[in-house]
Amino acid sequence: MEKEKPIGVFDSGIGGLTVVKRLFSTLPKENIIYFGDTARVPYGSKSNSTVIEYSMQDTNFLLSKNVKAVVVACNTASSIAIDELRKTFDVPVIGMIDPGSSMAVRETRSNKIGVIGTRATVSNRAYSTAIRKINPEIEVTEKACPLFVPVAEEGWVKHKATYEIAEEYLKELREKGIDTLVLGCTHYPILAEVIQEVIGREVRLIDSGIASSEIVRNELSRIGLETNSAVPGHASFYVSDIPTTFKQVAELFLGQPVEEVFKVDIESIKFK
Ligand code: DGL
Repeated sequence: MEKEKPIGVFDSGIGGLTVVKRLFSTLPKENIIYFGDTARVPYGSKSNSTVIEYSMQDTNFLLSKNVKAVVVACNTASSIAIDELRKTFDVPVIGMIDPGSSMAVRETRSNKIGVIGTRATVSNRAYSTAIRKINPEIEVTEKACPLFVPVAEEGWVKHKATYEIAEEYLKELREKGIDTLVLGCTHYPILAEVIQEVIGREVRLIDSGIASSEIVRNELSRIGLETNSAVPGHASFYVSDIPTTFKQVAELFLGQPVEEVFKVDIESIKFK
């Protein structure tokens, strides 16, 4: 039955597990198929055409697992590939940018929003375009913070080096007087405590994973595809490579044990 199919989620690697964590709390009965492109991470420093090609392959893999919707749990892929994915595939495709932008617009009082993300997300001006489409009065300052990705993967949640890097990246945003900061990369929620401390307690952090989980719930209900299951959902994890520290880092991102991980030869998956 359509309703009992899983939700597909993909990311360039493990960052998207922070979104799975949010999906589990918003939609606890849904099953999830996760694909992390760990062999080809990062996407944030790749060209747009490569990110589109990879995102198509990732989506195609999820569809081969018979998913009812696809969540692009990667801001980089969302900012570059979402239109192409929606044109190509006939399941709902939910990204990070629009949900995160709407939530930030709802939260800001000063109309000054900061956005942090990968170089690709920032240079594509994904968030500032989406935010200013909702409200052109809002001043958006975007800042690429590429070092946050390896720091999060290292598990340096409250490390001295993380504070120093955050201080360097965030001082410009602090000077702008923002009252809302979008965590525009799915790795960043792991570093939320340090980011909050450095940017200031008065600044509201926006986790696009929370915002997008709400959109997934609304979309499934709108099209009548929410599960009828009475038991807690479960997730299956697929990756294109299994790095030695995968399990430990994945559990940090997901906030719960990861039992089994399967390896996929992603380049051999044929487009439908
Ligand atoms: N998780 C990705 C994102 O949300 C960042 C990692 C990468 O560069 O691939 O943009």
